Amino acid sequence: MSAENVIAPEVNKTHDHILILDFGSQVTQLIARRVRESGVYCEIWPFNHADDDRIKSFNPKGIILSGGPCSVLDEEAPAAPEIVFTLGVPVFGICYGQQTMVKQLGGRVAPGEGSGEFGRAHVEVTNHSDLTQGVWDTGAREQVWMSHGDHVAELPEDFHIVAKSEGAPFAVIANKDKKFYGVQFHPEVVHTPHGRDLFKNFTHKVCGCAGDWTMQNFREESIAKIREQVGDKKVICGLSGGVDSSVTAILLHEAIGDRLTCIYVDTGLMRAGESEQVVALFREHYNIPLIHEEAEDLFLGKLDGVSDPETKRKIIGGLFIDVFDKCAKEVGDAAFLAQGTLYPDVIESVSFTGGPSVTIKSHHNVGGLPERMNLKLVEPMRELFKDEVRELGRALGMPEDFIRRHPFPGPGLAIRMPGEITRDKLEILRKADTVYLDEIKKAGLYDKIWQAFAVLLPVRSVGVMGDGRTYDYVCALRAVTSTDGMTADYYPFEHEFLSRVSTRIINEVAGINRVTYDITSKPPGTIEWE
Ligand code: XMP
Repeated sequence: MSAENVIAPEVNKTHDHILILDFGSQVTQLIARRVRESGVYCEIWPFNHADDDRIKSFNPKGIILSGGPCSVLDEEAPAAPEIVFTLGVPVFGICYGQQTMVKQLGGRVAPGEGSGEFGRAHVEVTNHSDLTQGVWDTGAREQVWMSHGDHVAELPEDFHIVAKSEGAPFAVIANKDKKFYGVQFHPEVVHTPHGRDLFKNFTHKVCGCAGDWTMQNFREESIAKIREQVGDKKVICGLSGGVDSSVTAILLHEAIGDRLTCIYVDTGLMRAGESEQVVALFREHYNIPLIHEEAEDLFLGKLDGVSDPETKRKIIGGLFIDVFDKCAKEVGDAAFLAQGTLYPDVIESVSFTGGPSVTIKSHHNVGGLPERMNLKLVEPMRELFKDEVRELGRALGMPEDFIRRHPFPGPGLAIRMPGEITRDKLEILRKADTVYLDEIKKAGLYDKIWQAFAVLLPVRSVGVMGDGRTYDYVCALRAVTSTDGMTADYYPFEHEFLSRVSTRIINEVAGINRVTYDITSKPPGTIEWE
């Protein structure tokens, strides 16, 4: 994807915005989220895709330089474009960003020599600055998250120290006149408790941003934008039951009313009650024209006897497009396809490893449809993060339990059932999943977990119930915490909770006689089993 796709010029006219230049840190997206939380629009660009004209026309109120895996002492070290320091706007360098700023402005960075700081550290605040004002008092000792080898050893002209730590004598530095700030730690991660407030100070106090990027404003502006883009044409939108496609549909409906038709394909691979909930919300609650296509026989027929995970995914993806295509033709003369593409899908992140990344799983979506049907795309949420989408859902009056739903993969229960898919096994899995989620909700844990679900294993084990021998399926329970699905940790349930769920599943779900809990993180595991 070209970096040009990332710019949203229409946002520029109405809101202040901050530019984040990415040097390849794992947590650059968190910087953007912290800036957005302060009510300010921002974009992430790779440092090497930001030429002077692009930067000028983006007209940022401030620039943030991210962290990164390189050393500024390397010969080919990535550097910020010079215009960053001559544009006359505030600059905030974080970790690598601080070091490159120091080096580019005439200071000196020294190698770590094994004496870097990693993890929790404390800084001592020695001086006042606009960046820390009202957050950290002079003389205070504050917790931060460090992760650096090299450190700044000599400041460029007109800079002074604001805070120091044991491993970083220049933990926070400032050039008051130019409004250049640098921090050696990572204010964007939660382990720096006041990091959020430092970003707010930077965007509001230092850059003078108004903080008017709210989802209420976004909703109104995006309705106007959709109307302009779509004109009097018809739009179709595929619903998956997930938050992204639902919010897209409701936003579109507000903008163009009944010229939007939603298509919901029931693949027979949904969870218990899922189709009924989607249909009730869209058709009955929102009164949105909805085609509810019952395609269970088609999907399960084509999946009959298939057990290879990638083959399952390919069959489901292909059928989905066929069915969607057929339904779209029923709507007639639709000119646009609405999609819930989010900002993380759009960001072009810097890769230092080079080469294409390996496909772990082929994701199921409606890719290929726009070309096949000659449809243009409407993607009203291309600038939003997931938490902003949830906020937008609230601004659109969506029911809270729908907004907070865990993600559910396009191929549905097919990839939660290693081996062959049968109707009987699907029924067993649905029941086990329902019991598990019921207990999670009762224990008040649903919102603490990114995703929780049951998996039905193609393994039978011997058990004893009453006086009789059983020979039934094994069920694995999965629950993970995550911020974006890219990495995940298993959820540390209490033993008592796990035994309660296990007892209920074995007693209430005929066909399962053994329950296990999956304690694999991602990596090395993935969240889904296939
Ligand atoms: P994995 O299993 O790759 O999953 O760790 C990461 C996240 O993506 C979801 N997932 C999918 N979502 N279509 C989707 O829309 C898919 O084909 C698909 N496969 C996995 C998964 O549920 C998790 O949230």
